[in-house]
Amino acid sequence: MRTLVVTGAASGIGMATVERVRRDGARTIGVDLHDADVIADLGSATGRAAMLDAVAALAPDGIDGVVAAAGISALDRPEAVLSINYFGAVATLNGLVGLLAKKPRPRAVVIGSTAALLPSDERTVAACLAGDETEARAHILKRPATAYASSKLAVSRWLRRAAISPEWAGSGILLNGIAPGVVETAMTLPLLQDDSMLALIAQSNPMAVQGFAQPEEIAELINYLLTFDGHYLLGQMIFCDGGTDAILRPEGF
Ligand code: NAI
Repeated sequence: MRTLVVTGAASGIGMATVERVRRDGARTIGVDLHDADVIADLGSATGRAAMLDAVAALAPDGIDGVVAAAGISALDRPEAVLSINYFGAVATLNGLVGLLAKKPRPRAVVIGSTAALLPSDERTVAACLAGDETEARAHILKRPATAYASSKLAVSRWLRRAAISPEWAGSGILLNGIAPGVVETAMTLPLLQDDSMLALIAQSNPMAVQGFAQPEEIAELINYLLTFDGHYLLGQMIFCDGGTDAILRPEGF
């Protein structure tokens, strides 16, 4: 039986992922602040370390996959946005490499966002990629409105670097990401009930199709990456966004 770790498992995309992979018979270790197998705050160093210890105790023979989905978009908590969305996700993925490498076909997925295409703070992103959480948190206070976009741009760039490294590709672990557009979850519900926010979203996330995504649709793609039967697909941030990326970056390739 495959064992998969899913962070952010108590809600939205993480919860839909747990449900999707369990349908195929996988065992899941859910991580979240509440309602999960492992209760941990991935926004803090102690919470991350406790999570890694708990997962190792639950799956000493290794894990077949990990999905880093825990995240927040709170405008009033810019430092926490970075600590959870970037440093929490990277600590989760890096910290579980050893357990992944014990299995024959390990897969890892990090959740980015189309928000990575929005204005962000380059100094914050650079501090993230340098692994300097204190500096990243200090920089973002100067441009707090860019915290979410900066966290997602940083995680997208981290993915490109990490996936091809000896620790990941060299250990046979396929690391990819998914950049969802607007998904109807607890994170977006308040925005989607506000007409002025809906107008802003229509500008930032132009789409070629009608209607936002449900978390189950994102979970379907996550499950695809977790079960991908090959060795050639890695380092990709795959947009699942109703066409937003293609509309905003038609010359992107
Ligand atoms: P959600 O709010 O439904 O679920 C997020 C989960 O993360 C919650 O269960 C929450 O308790 C957990 N979490 C938050 N802070 C945590 C912490 N410090 N430690 C451990 N767990 C923590 O949100 P949703 O929409 O499912 O978001 C999942 C991921 O998808 C996030 O990374 C988000 O940025 C990303 N995303 C969401 C989009 C959307 O439109 N909903 C679009 C693009 C990306």
